[in-house]
Amino acid sequence: MRAPQIVVVGSINMDLVARMSRLPRPGETLHGDDFQTIPGGKGANQAVAAARLGAQVTMIGRVGDDAFGGELLRSLELYGVGTQYVQKTANYPSGVAVINVEASGANAIVVIAGANGRLTADDVANCASVIASADVVVVQLETPVETVITAIRTARKFNVRTILDPAPAPSSPLPAELQSVDYISPNQSEAEALTGIVVYDLASAERAAKVLCDRGARHVVMKLGELGALIYSDGKGEHIAAVSTEIVDTTAAGDAFTAGLAVGLAEGRTLAEATKLGCAAGTMACTVFGAQPAMPTREKVDQFLRVER
Ligand code: RIB
Repeated sequence: MRAPQIVVVGSINMDLVARMSRLPRPGETLHGDDFQTIPGGKGANQAVAAARLGAQVTMIGRVGDDAFGGELLRSLELYGVGTQYVQKTANYPSGVAVINVEASGANAIVVIAGANGRLTADDVANCASVIASADVVVVQLETPVETVITAIRTARKFNVRTILDPAPAPSSPLPAELQSVDYISPNQSEAEALTGIVVYDLASAERAAKVLCDRGARHVVMKLGELGALIYSDGKGEHIAAVSTEIVDTTAAGDAFTAGLAVGLAEGRTLAEATKLGCAAGTMACTVFGAQPAMPTREKVDQFLRVER
């Protein structure tokens, strides 16, 4: 059987991760427990997760010409992601994310775009042939908006399905074209940033999802953390429950979810089945520390889904 083909257009960061008993308050200095540099970036995490789940994945992105750039490329290659469309950007640093993780597994993240901010619309347009041959194209919001729009436009031109993970939450309204994707997969705070509706339960999630569909998204797959996910299409909502687990670190759980959704859809599964795969991948990512190293294999996710049933 042909492996599902996924193209991820997005960010590649080195995560600078500190662990501490609790997150610091503004103005406070705390003693931390541990510091590590770990490959991350929402786009790269999704690419790695999709590859671990069995897809053939091509990444379109940029790293800097610094030491992190080489390490980030090696990590993608190690996990089997195609990097022929990842460019090294001369005289520019790689993207980084400063991440604090507390004992509960909750985190606070600051992203500095670096080379991700230099991924241009032309870079993406030059990759039209690989986009045309994909089953699904996945984008997020850690690269310039015009670049993301070009990725969606190019995919649409070739009838390739698009998933927008609108993360990090946008601070200004998104252009209409960006919201007219096949699937939009916000978490609760991103859904609130996009719609102004505070999402705290299934009913409020459904209200926000309806707004996103009215704006042009064909399907909404809202990540609801421990509650699982809400699918909303054609005026109807469906709740997909998640199984709770011991949480070590929630970093990149949303990326694992989006990758599971993409792989499920690319395999021809129903939206509910693909969302279940996303929920399971996201849950499993919470049980391991870090971003890319926490992305679960297909074997582990399938085993988890069998036990859950
Ligand atoms: O979603 C988690 C990711 O967000 C981290 O890996 C970090 O790089 C930021 O992009």
